[in-house]
Amino acid sequence: MSQTIAVLKGDGIGPEIMDATLRVLDALECGLKYEFFDAGLTALEKHGTLVPAETLEAIEKYRVALKGPLTTPVGKGFSSINVQLRRHFDLYANVRPALSFPGTRSRYDEIDLITVRENTEGAYLSEGQTLSYDGETALSSIRVTRKGSERILRYAFELARQRGRRKVTAVHKANIIKTSSGLFLEVAREVAEEYPDIEFQEMIVDNACMQLVMDPQQFDVVVTTNLFGDILSDLCAGLVGGLGLAPGSNIGTDTAIFEAVHGSAPDIAGKKIANPCALLLAAADMLDHLGMMDKGTQIRDTIRQVLETARDQVTPDMGGSGTTDTFAEALVSALRND
Ligand code: NAI
Ligand code: MG
Repeated sequence: MSQTIAVLKGDGIGPEIMDATLRVLDALECGLKYEFFDAGLTALEKHGTLVPAETLEAIEKYRVALKGPLTTPVGKGFSSINVQLRRHFDLYANVRPALSFPGTRSRYDEIDLITVRENTEGAYLSEGQTLSYDGETALSSIRVTRKGSERILRYAFELARQRGRRKVTAVHKANIIKTSSGLFLEVAREVAEEYPDIEFQEMIVDNACMQLVMDPQQFDVVVTTNLFGDILSDLCAGLVGGLGLAPGSNIGTDTAIFEAVHGSAPDIAGKKIANPCALLLAAADMLDHLGMMDKGTQIRDTIRQVLETARDQVTPDMGGSGTTDTFAEALVSALRND
């Protein structure tokens, strides 16, 4: 059975890295069909809106989207497209794996951890967040619900179980932020009891930062609220060599959007030197999500192989002298010779 996905090439380097990614997906022969839709600046120019209704309908219909980075114009009253998409589809889980690859500017080898960030509540409520502001004093709010905490925690434990992971660490600040972070921790303890096969650990966020930097291999699945997750997942991307290899999935009950964590990189757009790996790793996570775990693993293994054996073909940010195209070609030929 062939599966259709919505593809949003995005802005800046988006089309370049998406073309490279689709070439690799085609070489994998995973039977995917693509339907292309606009979003971001490209959509604004063509349709007068950043997120056309047709794009939303397509994501709703196909339930799975692969998305290039989108540029939200700054200072023109537009709210972030990514936040709009998360809200519209209630994409409550932001899943960001941090996986070591050879030849990166990383201090560690063999990191393999996943951050599961609550994506819809916490300190990121946008316009609802400001309680008062008079130029002298600003008061903002944090909203944590039992329902929101339960679903993200259950998601993290289920993910751990499905992927054969041994441990879930709930990161919080319940010692100080007693109500909101306290509720998250209380629910974490309750949900953990339903998963006796998975080790449960709780850790205060400041200690978690230090532990991640000192001894990241002790972590497996890290689950936390929105703001802490935003910060910790960037820290984790830094542990494995930066944004060039950082994928992110936004998962809801019915719909999932897979993307690179980095942005549209206007400084290098059109120069054909953008690294396609983060989007490619997002595509690997998409294949896992679609039940094609072997194909997802094949993508990760092939990236590893090319980084080890064809370093001159890879993009300059990875220390190579290649282009987006030579990188994609090296991946495709490695796959074909498998
Ligand atoms: P950025 O991630 O686009 O770029 C930061 C730096 O990393 C730049 O020097 C860039 O050249 C480099 N870089 C990023 N991706 C790369 C890749 N694949 N290969 C090689 N080098 C790469 O962040 P910035 O400059 O803060 O944002 C630019 C635009 O992207 C903004 O309009 C922002 O709103 C948007 N953005 C979109 C995101 C999304 O759609 N998920 C996420 C972050 C930013
Ligand atoms: Mg962030």
